[in-house]
Amino acid sequence: MDVILIAAITQDGFIAHHSNEVITWSKDLALFKTQTMGCPVIMGSNTYNSIENELKGREIIVFHRNKKPINILNRLSSDKCFIAGGGKTNACFSPYLTHMFLTPHPILFGTGIKLFEGKIKEKKLLLENTVTINTEGNIVQFQYKIIN
Ligand SMILES: NC(=O)c1ccc[n+]([C@@H]2O[C@H](COP(=O)([O-])OP(=O)(O)OC[C@H]3O[C@@H](n4cnc5c(N)ncnc54)[C@H](OP(=O)(O)O)[C@@H]3O)[C@@H](O)[C@H]2O)c1
Repeated sequence: MDVILIAAITQDGFIAHHSNEVITWSKDLALFKTQTMGCPVIMGSNTYNSIENELKGREIIVFHRNKKPINILNRLSSDKCFIAGGGKTNACFSPYLTHMFLTPHPILFGTGIKLFEGKIKEKKLLLENTVTINTEGNIVQFQYKIIN
């Protein structure tokens, strides 16, 4: 199964200003909807509580600290699932990631929630595809395969 981390990030590596931010600065919400439709989407409790709109058409699985990521993944029967943050959840699932879909935005936060909140192992990434998100062409999703 493909386990795909999907995130909008700043150029200094943050995904939010704080743990319960309602994300309004991301330009890739429409792409997120298209790509995750019909797939299981795993997210942490802070992220789940910060979502304003119901994510219809997807099985939302809320991760809690007492759960084991591998058990959640082993229960899924789909050919792919998405890890949709936040930083703590991304770090917990990092050993199992096969792909990362990252959309860097032209902004710096200086401080905030990092893409991975916690220690992760070094990984090499292979760029497989890019998707241009806006008509100006300056916001692009980078689709990486993870080579462990
Ligand atoms: N830019 C993007 O693409 C994007 C995507 C997703 C989310 N976000 C943003 O990311 C932010 C949330 O990120 P986050 O890292 O704060 O939270 P999170 O990963 O969404 O949720 C926290 C997770 O970590 C667990 N946890 C909390 N304390 C822990 C501990 N001491 N040890 C082990 N696990 C612990 C929680 O479990 P319990 O439930 O048991 O507490 C929960 O599963 C929000 O602002 C959200 O909007 C941005």
